[in-house]
Amino acid sequence: MREPTPGTILISAGQIQQRVREIARQIARDHPEPADLHFVCVLKGAFMFLGDLIRAMDRTVSIDFMALSSYAKGATSSGEVRLVKDLDTGLEGRNVVIVEDIVDTGLTLSYLQEILRARSPSSLRTACLLSKPSRRLVEVQVDYIGFTIEDRFVAGYGLDYAEKYRNLPHISVVEGDLEPANLS
Ligand code: PRP
Repeated sequence: MREPTPGTILISAGQIQQRVREIARQIARDHPEPADLHFVCVLKGAFMFLGDLIRAMDRTVSIDFMALSSYAKGATSSGEVRLVKDLDTGLEGRNVVIVEDIVDTGLTLSYLQEILRARSPSSLRTACLLSKPSRRLVEVQVDYIGFTIEDRFVAGYGLDYAEKYRNLPHISVVEGDLEPANLS
């Protein structure tokens, strides 16, 4: 058995930083000041993307965090998503941008969009650093996509393999014998 480790760099730190700045500019254009801008970060994978994205915004923003757990990637494929940590504040009348690291089957995001829409934000948009369209099970609207990638298991820049490698500044393909239980 070959221990899975990050191998080939798929997206360099420089490429990520450049794309994050572009997305920040797009978000700013879509929410002209003095509109408020409230970012909802989905834990844990999106924390680094959120950190760089808001540092690239030259205006006042607010942030909040949510944690979800998906049963779609374990032994079962029920598509069920569970809310593990809710937001601290309400969304009514606010301009909300969901910040996700990756959209894969789309189940997590479509669940999240549905529950956040029900809280009556004035607008609701979604930014995802990565998208794997070949894995999609449900159609879901993503307004800002960093990079579209093939169906390879990747880690780094917030994304993990077995809770490791989130601290890498780039995104690498994980190479070796991947354990199914760690592919979420
Ligand atoms: C990842 C990612 C999304 C979800 C996307 O989270 O952050 O929330 O999976 O997958 P989907 O489109 O198939 O629903 P993960 O469960 O790996 O948690 P983590 O961010 O805490 O690592």
